[in-house]
Amino acid sequence: MILSGGEGTRLRPITHTSAKQLVPVANKPILFYGLESLREAGINDIGIIVGDTEDEIREAVGDGSAWGVEVTYIRQEAPLGLAHAVLTAADFLADTPFVMYLGDNLIKEGIAAFVDEFRRKDVDALILLAHVTEPQRFGVAKLDGTRIVELVEKPKDPPSDLALVGAYMFRPSILDASQAIKPSWRNELEITDAIQHLIDGGRRVEAHIIEGWWKDTGHLEDLLEANRMVLEGIEPRCEGSIDAASRVDGRVVVEEGAEVVRSNLRGPAIVGRDSRIVDSYIGPFTSIYYGVTVEGSELEHSIVMENSSIVNIPGRIEDSLIGKNVEITRAQTRPKTFRFVLGDNSRVGLI
Ligand code: TTP
Repeated sequence: MILSGGEGTRLRPITHTSAKQLVPVANKPILFYGLESLREAGINDIGIIVGDTEDEIREAVGDGSAWGVEVTYIRQEAPLGLAHAVLTAADFLADTPFVMYLGDNLIKEGIAAFVDEFRRKDVDALILLAHVTEPQRFGVAKLDGTRIVELVEKPKDPPSDLALVGAYMFRPSILDASQAIKPSWRNELEITDAIQHLIDGGRRVEAHIIEGWWKDTGHLEDLLEANRMVLEGIEPRCEGSIDAASRVDGRVVVEEGAEVVRSNLRGPAIVGRDSRIVDSYIGPFTSIYYGVTVEGSELEHSIVMENSSIVNIPGRIEDSLIGKNVEITRAQTRPKTFRFVLGDNSRVGLI
């Protein structure tokens, strides 16, 4: 089961109109990394929990055949919590063990070893954990050997440095536990409460610790960091065109139909299908999705989504997430003023 509903308040205004799980990281929607991880773990029957962005998710993923899996869409009436999502999927889950994967999470090493361990063990739940430097910011587990004895949300005095990563393995007992708990202060049925209910009832809940990096991309800084991490591993290739007056340093991908003219690209960076980079500088850790125009501008450590254009901007754009069909340009006519059409909760930094 992949969770792709939610409200995405931390990524507004992008999430006013689009699913955060479809924001491209290194030019691939985040959700696709999760689908690939599940398939690699040998899971072919995938339920995707969807909310208001159902249509967009359906259009992007289809019936799952592009990944060789079968996808069932499960509509959650409102984002009432991860345990609520489990209850919503009760018919789909039936009596089978399952993995619950948060659709906005990226786990570099995938989940195959995690799923294998669960298949070998007779436990009610196996929880994916990772060592973190600021456990106060996460849901944290207290362990006795490999057994989890307590889960604490954002603890002031953390019992360990092991945070919950966005993947869980359950048996059907989690359904009863989710039914037994009450909503939290934020009016959500919390999966941590359901797991704690299992533990308190004497069920076996164990930990699987990963060493590689993972990211919950629900927040802008984390999303840009995920983009950076994935771009670190790209193999350079050019399927588009780069003219003789341009310069390319480091690992850069130029996708089919993309055009680079009199520009400097410094990797790791990726320029998507049918995008045009003219008289510009594209710096490290930048992902430019498809159909984008960048002209007479400088861009670094940013994600630009499809069909946007950035033209003749005097200062360098950095640390930015630019949505679909956005136009950033200089006013050519007088009066020379700043002119904005910005959605609710937009953030603009001017120099
Ligand atoms: P979160 O990031 O914890 O919640 P959110 O998406 O509502 O974001 P924010 O806190 O910024 O408002 O959710 C983790 C994943 O689970 C994400 O992919 C959305 C999904 N989700 C559901 O599908 N249903 C839900 O009820 C909730 C709370 C989340």
